[in-house]
Amino acid sequence: MKLTLLSILILFFSTIGIQAQAPSKNLDIDINKKGATIAPDMWGLFFEDINFAADGGLYAEMIKNYSFEFPSPFMGWRRIQEDGAMGYHYTKPHLDDSKNKKYLQMQRLNDQGNFGMSNEGFRGMAVKGNENYRLTFLAKVAKGDNLSITAQITKGKKILAETTINQLTNEWISYEVMLKATETADGVNFKVLLEGEGELDIDMISLFPEDTWMGRKRGLRKDLVQLLADMNPGFLRFPGGCIVEGFDLENRYQWKNTIGEMKDRGTMINRWNIEFSHRNAPDYFQSFGLGFFEYFQLAADLGAEPLPILSCGLACQYNSGEMVPLAALDEYVQDALDLIEFANGSTDTYWGAKRAEMGHPESFELKYIGVGNENWGPQYIERAEIFEKAIKAAYPEIIIVSTSGPSSDGHEFDYLWKELKARNAELIDEHYYKSPEWFRENARRYDDYDRNGPKVFAGEYAAHSTTENDALKRNNWEGALSEAAFMTGLERNADIVRLASYAPLLAHVDGWQWAPDMIWFDNLGSYATPNYYVQKLFSTNPGTQIIQITENGNTLAGEEGIYASSTYDENTKELIFKIVNTNTDTRAFTIRLNGNYKGKGNGKWLELQSDDLTAAHSIKEPKRIAPEEKDISIQKKKIQVSLKGQSVNVFRLKI
Ligand code: AHR
Repeated sequence: MKLTLLSILILFFSTIGIQAQAPSKNLDIDINKKGATIAPDMWGLFFEDINFAADGGLYAEMIKNYSFEFPSPFMGWRRIQEDGAMGYHYTKPHLDDSKNKKYLQMQRLNDQGNFGMSNEGFRGMAVKGNENYRLTFLAKVAKGDNLSITAQITKGKKILAETTINQLTNEWISYEVMLKATETADGVNFKVLLEGEGELDIDMISLFPEDTWMGRKRGLRKDLVQLLADMNPGFLRFPGGCIVEGFDLENRYQWKNTIGEMKDRGTMINRWNIEFSHRNAPDYFQSFGLGFFEYFQLAADLGAEPLPILSCGLACQYNSGEMVPLAALDEYVQDALDLIEFANGSTDTYWGAKRAEMGHPESFELKYIGVGNENWGPQYIERAEIFEKAIKAAYPEIIIVSTSGPSSDGHEFDYLWKELKARNAELIDEHYYKSPEWFRENARRYDDYDRNGPKVFAGEYAAHSTTENDALKRNNWEGALSEAAFMTGLERNADIVRLASYAPLLAHVDGWQWAPDMIWFDNLGSYATPNYYVQKLFSTNPGTQIIQITENGNTLAGEEGIYASSTYDENTKELIFKIVNTNTDTRAFTIRLNGNYKGKGNGKWLELQSDDLTAAHSIKEPKRIAPEEKDISIQKKKIQVSLKGQSVNVFRLKI
């Protein structure tokens, strides 16, 4: 056999394990060919109170069952009666019509030992050293003239913070004191101890870090909101998700029960309390401390469009599927109209005045409203039509989001799309929780959508790992990489896909029901997943107009494992393009900047990469896969770049 030099070299390199590199790809971007406008609010957030995302999560209240309203009124609490202390603990009804129905009475029969109550928090409680914690409660002496309360934060037998309140009266009075923690600790308890003989009525015992987002009293967890703010989200969808529908109509989310003073908000079972037997959460309730006013306020803080979703009169069709008769739908429709008035109405209106009373006289500038979540069948269409008629008659400028059900395709999906399209629906909410492979294979999903039909809100999506223990469904790199590949397809089709959000958003590491989730937290800290970093790469590098990036005139949506999209940002005068390499090996590219391109010099390159598709983050290892920033140089209208295997790459250059 005659060996040429080339065949000897190939034989040599393959023997020592070096693969021949794939040839360099030429990609073209013609900066003169700007396409459709991208919605400025395209990349947003989906918030649902699942996984202890609100109570026990974003809403920084540390006391579980702070007002004794759970059906088991002492859930989360432990009676303390130690070292000879004698007495009783009862709950008693308030004799008014507020939604705060019960309070605690502690009857102390002697003045020996420790007597009181201890709270365990939400799957534990944690404090940070040297930080202040604001304790508030209502109290009234029912009997006795020498009673005092000592409040403590303890870790085992060690007291980390303590204060005593002496001036108690026989009227209901609200108290506020600060507790300063001496050290950082997890697994702490909060104790309220009664001293002296007698009877004390006490209620709404609430403990918050002083250091909340924007320093607000009864505010939100700063670390979690900061992660959201860093994404520069275009919109905030709330309050869900299935939580909107409820497992039956009585347990649907009713926004009017979530505003005003806490005593008027009531407490309700969280539908995720009983949904999954494998992740039981019997202690999961909604205090509504994070209610509709706070959602609107959060959206305003984030500079995001508020996007509330309301019940359409159909309870979750996976559960009871309970349905309001059409003749009785008025109450539901009125809730939608009143919500628009609450958000946007002048302070002369009934609901606008309520908003002002709560501290926001200015309009929240609500633009969107969602009718129903994951409902299906003609029953949905009938109800959606009634909502649409009423909303458009009163508020023609409000954009209505309709649902296409829980699946990304199939009979119900096709039926709803056909019916909604026939009715000129404006925005249709699509959901897909699918395998990573599905995401990689569906980057062309929107290429063939009717350009003249309704627009799409990709309202809930996430790649669910199939490579690991299924119950865990971790946020691994394979999922995040596949989502990035898919998202180039959303961006290429931004004329159709108006809005998009990953789901769900938040999960407590010990309290979750559904995984994967974008951000995880415990009671002390939080971490962003690789999926978060993918979302952030898109949401912080959006652009204002689509520009095609092509190979031989064709867009790239998985051919040879490569995905790409490109935009122009008229605000910053930058070209932005994204290339996802899902292959395991490095690929070389020459990006040719065609058209009237005059820029030269350097651009910015953000790279997110891992060789390990199973890599995931944790509280201990929060940044295994995080974006790395590099420079790229542009020479003779070309960029030569080698993109590592399994990488998501974003480039920005001034034009
Ligand atoms: O995101 C979790 C759930 O998934 C949502 O509540 C629901 O809309 C979807 O089925």
